Amino acid sequence: MITTRLAVPLLASLLPLTLGLPVQAAETPDKGEVEVLNWWTSGGEARALGVLKSDLADQGIGWKNMPVAGGAGTNAMAVLRSRVTSGNPPTAAQVLGFDARDWAERGGLSYLDKVAQDMKWGDIFPQPLQDFAKYKGHWIGAPFEIHSTNWVWANKALMDKLGIEQPTTWTDFLASMKKARDAGYTGLAYGGQPWQDATVFENVMLATGGPDFYRKAFIDLDDATLRSDTMIKAFNNFRELLAYRDPNSSGRDWNLATAMVINDKALYQIMGDWAKGEFINANLAPYKDYLCFRTPGTQQAVTFNSDLMIMFKTDDTQQQALQDTMARAIASPGFQIAFSNNKGSVPARMDLPADELDACAQKGYEQVQAAAKNNTLMGSMAHGYAAQAAVKNAVFDIVSAFVNSSMPGDVAAEQMAMAIQDAK
Ligand code: GAL
Repeated sequence: MITTRLAVPLLASLLPLTLGLPVQAAETPDKGEVEVLNWWTSGGEARALGVLKSDLADQGIGWKNMPVAGGAGTNAMAVLRSRVTSGNPPTAAQVLGFDARDWAERGGLSYLDKVAQDMKWGDIFPQPLQDFAKYKGHWIGAPFEIHSTNWVWANKALMDKLGIEQPTTWTDFLASMKKARDAGYTGLAYGGQPWQDATVFENVMLATGGPDFYRKAFIDLDDATLRSDTMIKAFNNFRELLAYRDPNSSGRDWNLATAMVINDKALYQIMGDWAKGEFINANLAPYKDYLCFRTPGTQQAVTFNSDLMIMFKTDDTQQQALQDTMARAIASPGFQIAFSNNKGSVPARMDLPADELDACAQKGYEQVQAAAKNNTLMGSMAHGYAAQAAVKNAVFDIVSAFVNSSMPGDVAAEQMAMAIQDAK
């Protein structure tokens, strides 16, 4: 994959030389250029990012992409820190909730208050998201979308072939994966990387204990809940689920796991709705080629995350203007719809017509809106909206240790509780 991505620009730059043509220096567009750090490197992600790039190009603004591969931004924050520390921040960067807060605390972010006020951001973004997009009364991030992590992506042809109905309970969910395994398919497409282990585990936790349990454990970080029998049960349920992986899941990127569902190798993937971006990129249609449903047992809540574009303070007035333009573009109704239609997410704005979204996103948008009203729109731990980075990393460590060993559930629960206490 890396070779293909590198090959195109390399070829393009070599072509004039091999053809004996003069090599022209790239021209910076009149209105300047923005440099944007992000981790959107999969097919679906890059396609979604292209919506912003072409939106800006239409306004005469150039684009310098700074991709840092690594799902969930695992590597991006370290690269961003080194750029900022060396006094050379990009124009803007994609970050998640608690990291946005962290950057704001350090100082050095541009405030987006003027644009936010003009566009009434306070009225259009749901409160649980505003809690992160704002810091001490100032807007610090432009929300691209709302993603949620409690989704199952299913191969419809396989379900039909094996006579599997969409499961609504945890027991039926496991039984359907057993059916697929018995027929020679992989039940659960799985990527064995710490952030993915944690993404799947937060699904299992929510399915096992419900929204109150999830909130007390992962958002309030309540020690008794972290050590409770319900948490032990969650780890035990997770162990049962893991039996439906294939033996080669270790280290696998999330989009390669999605490809297993797309290519008829696996029945399901549990993953945030960025996975839908891969189905879109493969020209597949919801309910015809694939199904999307809330992870059985989690139907009454949404664990969300949202990519925020933060901007770095600059004395350059042209760059300041470009930052405002970019913030305005991201929050505009047309962009919010077009971006989500490529990314797999739903709009971060709550005031848009749902009929411009596909069937999965229509359902998702409605569920996000209902959850925002019922206080069950809860931040994802794996994606930086439940707790600060140190706690998140402690969870990653223990959950991955559990996945990669035969650690019993009670030991895992105790170790996770201890690691969280140390980290918070
Ligand atoms: C999430 C991010 C998504 C998607 C995913 C996989 O944290 O919010 O936009 O990129 O990671 O990398």
